[in-house]
Amino acid sequence: MTLLNGKHIVLGVCGGIAAYKSVELCRLLVDAGAHVAPIMTSDAEHFIGKVTLSALASEPVHTTLWDDADPIPHTRLGQRADLIVVAPTTARVLGAYAAGISSDLLTATLIATRAPVLVCPAMHTEMWEHPAVQENIATLRRRGVNVLDPESGRLAGGDIGAGRLADPQRIFDEIVQLLPPGDLYGTHVVVTAGGTREPIDAVRVIANRSSGKQGYAIAAEANARGAKVTLISTVELAVPFGVTLIQVETAQQMQDAVNMSAQQADVVVMAAAVADMRPVVTSTSKMKKNPKTGVIDGLESIALEATPDILANLGASKRVGQVLVGFAAETENLVANAQAKLQRKNVDLIVANNVADTGVGFGHETNAVTLVANGAEPVVVGLSDKRSIAKSVMDAVVLIRSHSTH
Ligand code: C5P
Repeated sequence: MTLLNGKHIVLGVCGGIAAYKSVELCRLLVDAGAHVAPIMTSDAEHFIGKVTLSALASEPVHTTLWDDADPIPHTRLGQRADLIVVAPTTARVLGAYAAGISSDLLTATLIATRAPVLVCPAMHTEMWEHPAVQENIATLRRRGVNVLDPESGRLAGGDIGAGRLADPQRIFDEIVQLLPPGDLYGTHVVVTAGGTREPIDAVRVIANRSSGKQGYAIAAEANARGAKVTLISTVELAVPFGVTLIQVETAQQMQDAVNMSAQQADVVVMAAAVADMRPVVTSTSKMKKNPKTGVIDGLESIALEATPDILANLGASKRVGQVLVGFAAETENLVANAQAKLQRKNVDLIVANNVADTGVGFGHETNAVTLVANGAEPVVVGLSDKRSIAKSVMDAVVLIRSHSTH
């Protein structure tokens, strides 16, 4: 499931008998691809164990303002969140939140965030109907806080009435409503990243300077926009949560991995720097230096042969509606060369960068590109971090898809 891919959700849990239902909610959110950061109030710890939530969530439970290495966990949690859900919400937390009193980590986070908030009150009917609670609810609603009213039913101690926490599935559905899926939801995006390494012998390779950072940024961006993402990479950086990584080394291994996953893909982004040539003969053992001559016998010269052109192969077998993206590192005639490549390899978009410029491309944290697509004016994206470049690339992909599906 990718419904909530890339979404950061803070799950607040207060001290009520319904706290056990937060465990089920946590599971639903994680299964849908969300990153869940749980916060428990100290009263919540009387009802469920920290270990239970920590094991199911995406990070360990946070409980106080003071036990974190981070001196300001509430602002970090609040700023990073796409949504905060509090289930169950007790009368105390409703009151503190409505009054703006940050008496613990959960209330501090609620006050520190600009993300949408969903509170799910649960308490005995007498408490729920108390004017103070109802006025707090009205205040919070007026301020734009989303309130999922409790249901009527059996309460703790055998009483029956209004105040029972809404069903976890119902809370989950409400969260999905508040966090509409991204514009790549329902698509499968395959991204390649990093430079291939072509073996000469057991220890030596022909490699290039690609760091894989741009490919990883594209995978992260597609993931955050709701796509199912397969990342085929020669390097292992921090894999975005929810992305499937396939590690490869050579151009041939990358071609094989692409063959396995790209057939059904809606979008393939070839961000990898694939070696164009590889040694014809490779040795499985380490070739030794001749102590007399100082050279490695048999390595005076290396005969090279072409590797498979993965992108061209994809272009030759492109399905209707499939979007192919290639990269082009150029030192001159950027747009003309990109346009030629677009035709030659039958791709829909070329991301061209002038590697002669400083701060651009291989190994850098930043990039500057020109997006060249069929029948459209080239789009220049100035020097920016690789995630911003990834955003522009995926914007262009979404535009191409909208043309081909309408
Ligand atoms: O033709 P050129 O090598 O400049 O094209 C670069 C683009 O083609 C990149 O997207 C790269 O990932 C891809 N490529 C490939 N297989 C190769 C060489 C390049 O898929 N053997």
